[in-house]
Amino acid sequence: MSNYHIKHLEEYYQVYRKSVREPENFWEEIAEEHFMWQRKWDKVLSWDFSKPEVSWFEGAKLNITENCIDRHLATRGNKTAILFEPNDPKEETEHITYSQLHERVNKFANVLKLKGIKKGDRVCIYLPMIPELAISVLACARIGAIHSVVFAGFSSTALSTRINDSDCKMVITSDGSYRGAKTIDLKGIVDDALKDCSCVQSVLVAKRIHSDIKMKADRDEWLQPLLDKASPVCKAEVMNAEDPLFILYTSGSTGMPKGMVHTTAGYMVHTAYTFKNVFQYRENDIYWCTADIGWITGHSYIVYGPLANGATTVMFEGVPSYPDFGRFWDIVQKHKVNQFYTAPTAIRALAKEGVGLVEKYDLSSLKVLGSVGEPINEEAWHWYNDNVGKKKSPIVDTWWQTETGGIMITPIPFVTPTKPTYATLPFIGIQPALMDEQGTELKGNQVEGRLCIKFPWPSMARTIWGNHQRYKDTYFSAFKNKYFTGDGALRDEVGYYRITGRVDDVIIVSGHNLGTAPIEDAINEHPAVAESAIVGFPHEVKGSALYGYITLKETGESRDQNNLRKEINQIITEHIGPIAKLDKIQFTGGLPKTRSGKIMRRILRKIACKETSNLGDTSTLLNPEVVKEIIDQSL
Ligand code: PRX
Repeated sequence: MSNYHIKHLEEYYQVYRKSVREPENFWEEIAEEHFMWQRKWDKVLSWDFSKPEVSWFEGAKLNITENCIDRHLATRGNKTAILFEPNDPKEETEHITYSQLHERVNKFANVLKLKGIKKGDRVCIYLPMIPELAISVLACARIGAIHSVVFAGFSSTALSTRINDSDCKMVITSDGSYRGAKTIDLKGIVDDALKDCSCVQSVLVAKRIHSDIKMKADRDEWLQPLLDKASPVCKAEVMNAEDPLFILYTSGSTGMPKGMVHTTAGYMVHTAYTFKNVFQYRENDIYWCTADIGWITGHSYIVYGPLANGATTVMFEGVPSYPDFGRFWDIVQKHKVNQFYTAPTAIRALAKEGVGLVEKYDLSSLKVLGSVGEPINEEAWHWYNDNVGKKKSPIVDTWWQTETGGIMITPIPFVTPTKPTYATLPFIGIQPALMDEQGTELKGNQVEGRLCIKFPWPSMARTIWGNHQRYKDTYFSAFKNKYFTGDGALRDEVGYYRITGRVDDVIIVSGHNLGTAPIEDAINEHPAVAESAIVGFPHEVKGSALYGYITLKETGESRDQNNLRKEINQIITEHIGPIAKLDKIQFTGGLPKTRSGKIMRRILRKIACKETSNLGDTSTLLNPEVVKEIIDQSL
């Protein structure tokens, strides 16, 4: 019997050791006993990080939707698979059973086929958190189409960039979305985006807000009438283990967003196995992850991981503040949620509202609390532990990335003793390494360095869509034969890991990764802007917020600065989305540069963080005089 469900610490260490000593035997047992294969693999793992090439379960054939849906029908047909909680609490909750999900996914898959979508085609999904989002993801997987979900808060420019990069043939969207008291014209955003996307042949539109929208003849079609006519039977496409399952874009420190490619078998095995253990999911538990399916957390831990375990997964359409800041707790009480997985930024926003709203609700169903997306600060950790978990529900601080596909460093609740702000121990099969800047691995405990992973794990992204060289350069070039995460971390005296944050130019704002370069590129398009540099600074709710230093062209210097600030944030909203707006904008006479012309962000970061007493070595600056000016006028 494989160790699919870890129940105590000794077992964790024993299984962990096995997963490191005999990784192939270990993963083979897990894969063999807990999934449905149409053909077993010839080889469990082949890998070469120098290329880099990684392949898991080569030769195996499967369809992930058979694992997430079909195989549960006999025993869990009437169990709720997806519990949909709408934006408006007055609207009724929808319970979609595994049987109903099967029928809806099959119908949707048949609609995709009718519209000419085939195995390997890319389909962009730009939907709010409504059941059609999860169903369309699964429908793509059913027929082997590669889904590329774009978070429905991204702007039309960001959307078109992503559609074009992966050459999507179809877009699935809705007439609009609800977000608290507001509605958003999603279809209008898609129409704008598609002005620049000649690859898109059809658009399917789900009805959500019943707004009056324009439909483009020969391109746009309402989804529901097509579903009504579709057959509820759709044979699952036979997929190879390494066939791409989806593309998901993530920001890099420079250039275009990176379309991370995840493949089928390894992703399924890892997300399912981590889900079972990290949330200690048991039959009949109600599990809720508050993320959006537009991010990796939603892909892995709202859709695939939970469904592969036959779980009930909550999908919430709304926001934590509507109709008031008690909404999360209202939902926990209403559905007797057992596992609750959210982001530190949400915890901080809710903590700010006081404990009154938490105490109003019965949260006694909660067993496990999760945190993801950014380091959780000590204050937020204690607030979560004391007021939500009542000191009885362990907090799993899960560290991972879009690129890793699944959870990598985490406590296992009731197994690993937790420690505030520590992601604690590597998950089974994960081999982290801390490196110094010279590329030497730091052995032993009580060390701090750059976090790498030195052995492949099943759910790692295999490439960047259309740009394998960039995949190699970004992740496998900084440290020989190791995957470099871009994060710094420390290992304490007992071997627990604490993630200290990004060591590159990615800034995490409210749990969203933002690369500085794309934001600067957007700002520089403003006709009055000569140059700009973005850095992060601490923010009590968002974790980090963005501080922009902007030099104006002579033509811009006479302009009203408040108007300019508004225009700059408007440009950012148009190019990327409102999540990338700057909190502070300082106009400067120049930016500190090295003699080779590189902006010295280190100095700007210190000024933004109000740490000006020690700016470090400034002797290589070409223009040291601007530093004083920037400090004097800092915000
Ligand atoms: O810096 C780390 C931070 O989020 C980055 C990955 O972001 P993304 O690809 O959007 O995926 C987020 C959801 C998995 C990481 O490089 N991060 C994520 N989780 C944690 C974290 N930092 C500290 N602690 C965490 N638990």
